[in-house]
Amino acid sequence: MVGLTVSSFGVYGLLVVIAILYQTELPRMVKLGLGIGRTLEPLGSFPYTYRRIQEPRLEACEDMWLSESTRQLFLACSDSLSRKEYLPNGGKFNVSGRSLRDSIVVMDLERPSGDSFDMRTLETPGFFGTDGDGRLHLVGFAGSDDEPGDIRLWVINTKPSVDPITGEFLDNSKVGANSTVELFKTGAGATTLEHIKTFFHSQIATPNKVTALGGPHDGFYYTNDHGTVKTGLGYALSPLLAKADVSFCDDTTCRTVVPGLKYPNGLVKGHDGLIYVPSASIGGIDVFEPLPDHGLKKIDHIDVDYSLDNLNVDASGDIYAAAFPIAKQILDGFNDPLNSFPAATALRIRKTLSGYEVTKVIEDRNGEVLPATTTVLHDTKTGKLFMSSVFSPFISICDEE
Ligand SMILES: *[C@@H]1O[C@H](CO)[C@@H](O)[C@H](O)[C@H]1NC(C)=O
Ligand SMILES: *[C@@H]1O[C@H](CO)[C@@H](O)[C@H](O)[C@H]1NC(C)=O
Repeated sequence: MVGLTVSSFGVYGLLVVIAILYQTELPRMVKLGLGIGRTLEPLGSFPYTYRRIQEPRLEACEDMWLSESTRQLFLACSDSLSRKEYLPNGGKFNVSGRSLRDSIVVMDLERPSGDSFDMRTLETPGFFGTDGDGRLHLVGFAGSDDEPGDIRLWVINTKPSVDPITGEFLDNSKVGANSTVELFKTGAGATTLEHIKTFFHSQIATPNKVTALGGPHDGFYYTNDHGTVKTGLGYALSPLLAKADVSFCDDTTCRTVVPGLKYPNGLVKGHDGLIYVPSASIGGIDVFEPLPDHGLKKIDHIDVDYSLDNLNVDASGDIYAAAFPIAKQILDGFNDPLNSFPAATALRIRKTLSGYEVTKVIEDRNGEVLPATTTVLHDTKTGKLFMSSVFSPFISICDEE
């Protein structure tokens, strides 16, 4: 539209542009991105004590999951400084700057140690990784322990694309990453992850987070946060043009079950069996009912006026959401993760007889203690909140006062 003046373009043209902008919800994205009209509260307004746990193994932990049966907290951690170089979900493809130390870390919540808990990095013996390097490239993951002590993890691995003959990296900024979902098994006192299978399919294109069916099934729902176009203009415009989706994989194939979404983020299956899908670009949570063929039928929308990242369910069925009060601060923070302390918010979504009740449980206006929070996990047994981040070099633990 460069060079077009309003007079030559005409009032109708202008109205069309405005209509399109509203259709794409661009104004809402800008409002949430900049936190316009929002009142932020300092940490001291909430009844918690809090501390940072800063140590190399707990860097850039995008996601967490709690095994209730074994009291082990699993974290998907990476390297703070490498996130700005290689993060396919963020359109960053500098393969030589990728993290070489991503791992699933476990904390034993029944074994306190100093300010924190006993923790270990899980080995993945025999896992092939990228062209045999055994490595993982972690973002979101999900777990299930419906049989006590028998834990499965569905782990998104955003590994780079390589030439299968020469083993050389392809130009990932053109072809995109070669993401898969890796199914691992482990149990109580976990020290290793046993690799069970790789889900590899063209529909696993821009996977962000998984939620598993559990029970006897290995199937799972996941969000393709930008849909199936992995790079370039189509990728960049996906949130505006609603090209993202929720997809489903079972042992045989993968398929889209909800197309036409705007930046769907960390989805979760509720204790009610419904699938909750938050949006990073326009906020809010869409609620879906799974159909017998694993299709999803939209049955509700929870109005949440925040850009949202991962959702997690606690033992009592409440959903905890990592919300970005000023999303732009998060985007900026990737460039200087060790010195960026964006405002952070945790929301609780509780199902009541009259609908969903959304409550702010903690907020850190000034980034005093909380990381650039992308996951909030509530431990019902102790009341603790664990908060971790895709790029911050620490996690935070909050105790009820
Ligand atoms: C890619 O990452 C490497 C290693 O961190 C860095 O030296 C290089 O400058 C980066 N390249 C670009 C184009 O940013
Ligand atoms: C993508 O990953 C699959 C499964 O891990 C592997 O078989 C295939 O060779 C990879 N392709 C590219 C282009 O990296």
